[in-house]
Amino acid sequence: MDTILIKPQRRLLAAISFLFLVLTSFNQAFAEADGAKLFKQNCAVCHSLGDNKITGPGLKGVAARVPADPWLFNWIKNNKEVIKSGDAYAKKILAEYNGADMSTFTHLTDDEINALVAFVKNPPVEVKTTTPTDEAKGPKGATEEGVNPLAILIGVIAFLIIIIGVLRGVTHSLKNIQNEKQGLPEEEAVGPWDEIKNWIVTHKTTTAVIILIILGGLLTEGWYALKGIGVYEGYQPVQPIAFSHKIHAGDNAINCQYCHSGVEKSKTAGIPSVNVCMNCHKGISSGPTTGTEEIAKIYEAAGFDPKSGEYTKPQKPIQWIKVHNLQDFVYFSHQQHVKVGKQDCANCHGDVKTMTVAKQVSPLTMGWCIDCHRKTEVPGMKDNPYYESLHKKLAEKYKGLPKEEQVITVAKMGGIDCGRCHY
Ligand code: HEC
Ligand code: HEC
Ligand code: HEC
Ligand code: HEC
Ligand code: HEC
Ligand code: HEC
Repeated sequence: MDTILIKPQRRLLAAISFLFLVLTSFNQAFAEADGAKLFKQNCAVCHSLGDNKITGPGLKGVAARVPADPWLFNWIKNNKEVIKSGDAYAKKILAEYNGADMSTFTHLTDDEINALVAFVKNPPVEVKTTTPTDEAKGPKGATEEGVNPLAILIGVIAFLIIIIGVLRGVTHSLKNIQNEKQGLPEEEAVGPWDEIKNWIVTHKTTTAVIILIILGGLLTEGWYALKGIGVYEGYQPVQPIAFSHKIHAGDNAINCQYCHSGVEKSKTAGIPSVNVCMNCHKGISSGPTTGTEEIAKIYEAAGFDPKSGEYTKPQKPIQWIKVHNLQDFVYFSHQQHVKVGKQDCANCHGDVKTMTVAKQVSPLTMGWCIDCHRKTEVPGMKDNPYYESLHKKLAEKYKGLPKEEQVITVAKMGGIDCGRCHY
């Protein structure tokens, strides 16, 4: 036996190690993302990785200033315990931040906390590319998760083709090893293109079906793009900054009212000013899908220079495009519906927490308003003193009716009188 591997065996080895490489690199990508991802989900609302204070301190060089391990672990897991134990360093930072509250993370596993400790000790170098933004490009690419489902499909198919190719290589090599043992001649390897050609020739119907599916997908995408024009339900304009509700209200669980502060006290919900964005974005200069590009537009609008950390230019308000547009002759109040009527945002706006781009999901027609007023019972009717006498009167009026019709709906309170909604 000589030291050189025989050809088919070598090919087999190459194929297997390629497969192994692909799988491990996938694995690694996921493992590495962990600490960073956990940080974004749980900590980035209050901490930057640089020097900037948000609610809590900037975490640059934090490992050097806190007490030795396992202090970081204990603090991140449950800072209240550390504070209770009378820890001197905890007392010091608490005083520095006027006792501002850091959340506890007892719901995370020890592995997750360890990933966080490793991440804050050694965060990746932040790529500070606050390049002038490419105006022409706009936030287009960022719609719906930033990735087109069709692209994912094509990616998956390509991946499968590679795997199939590799596996075929493996069987081919195995066969040759066997042939060799039996003293048969080595089979010629067939090139990948020839294989595909052969496959298409022998699988005409399947090929036709695959082509039809891809064409169908492209056509429906085009159809939806056209349909969006001029129809308001599903209206989803491209905004001047690729603001994502999914990232803010979903992943980072920021309360709707933090930004739409009018919902409980006025007719309109209100769109936050750029100052509200800066409360957090002074410290957060890059995002998970758009990097620094979109956040740079906030700095531009705020007249903020991220290098010096100062406001050097005048503010220009961000020109958000209105998604919902009720006709002027209709009266609608958020306070009435959210505070008094106890209606959840989602009843009218859908699951905003999952929207990458804000979208109108309800038709906002008269029929839609009236339909809900007919069906919805006025909440708190029974125990609200304001309604007590009214409730008695109405209860008297509807006494004779079947049980389900005794429910006091908005409509029964006059919620479908023309004058309530039309001036
Ligand atoms: C709600 C805001 C908030 C969140 C969320 C938060 N922190 Fe904090 N963190 C603070 C505040 C405020 C302090 C300063 C001490 C104090 O007042 O409690 C602090 C202090 C710290 C310190 C000590 C920093 C120093 O300079 O000594 C570390 C480390 C830390 N946090 C890590 C984390 C990690 C990791 C997470 C996510 C798992 C996290 N924090 C989530 C608000 C927060
Ligand atoms: C971090 C700030 C922030 C948070 C938190 C937030 N929003 Fe928004 N919201 C905005 C901004 C900015 C816009 C305007 C840009 C756009 O339409 O995407 C907006 C737009 C909207 C619109 C469309 C308004 C229009 O033009 O008609 C609705 C509806 C909405 N938000 C509902 C919600 C709901 C419901 C929540 C909570 C689940 C929420 N928002 C949380 C900042 C926020
Ligand atoms: C309460 C804190 C907070 C406020 C207020 C806030 N953001 Fe954010 N923003 C975040 C966090 C956290 C991230 C995610 C950072 C990350 O995951 O790396 C983020 C990310 C972003 C991104 C990057 C998204 C991506 O896909 O890469 C943009 C753009 C953005 N915010 C715009 C805004 C705008 C515009 C406003 C004001 C209307 C605003 N933000 C207000 C906390 C906030
Ligand atoms: C998801 C259900 C729902 C939808 C949709 C809805 N409403 Fe309402 N509305 C309510 C509830 C509940 C109340 C009762 C609030 C209260 O207790 O005063 C109410 C009350 C009102 C009132 C006050 C009525 C009164 O008797 O004082 C007005 C005006 C009104 N709605 C207008 C509208 C308009 C205009 C629309 C459509 C653009 C609309 N509503 C859509 C649930 C809804
Ligand atoms: C009963 C239905 C209903 C509920 C509940 C509701 N909205 Fe609205 N919302 C509307 C309608 C209708 C409009 C359009 C108003 C207009 O054009 O004058 C609107 C517009 C908006 C706008 C943009 C224009 C503005 O008023 O500033 C925002 C932002 C918004 N809603 C956020 C919210 C949030 C956040 C909640 C929950 C706290 C909520 N809405 C609950 C029906 C509703
Ligand atoms: C709960 C609120 C509500 C009540 C009550 C209500 N409307 Fe409306 N009405 C609307 C809304 C919202 C629109 C706007 C619809 C649109 O833009 O498609 C509208 C539109 C209209 C229009 C214009 C139609 C059009 O297609 O543009 C007329 C006319 C009208 N209403 C008459 C009435 C009359 C008459 C009554 C009493 C019988 C009444 N409305 C009661 C909410 C209401």
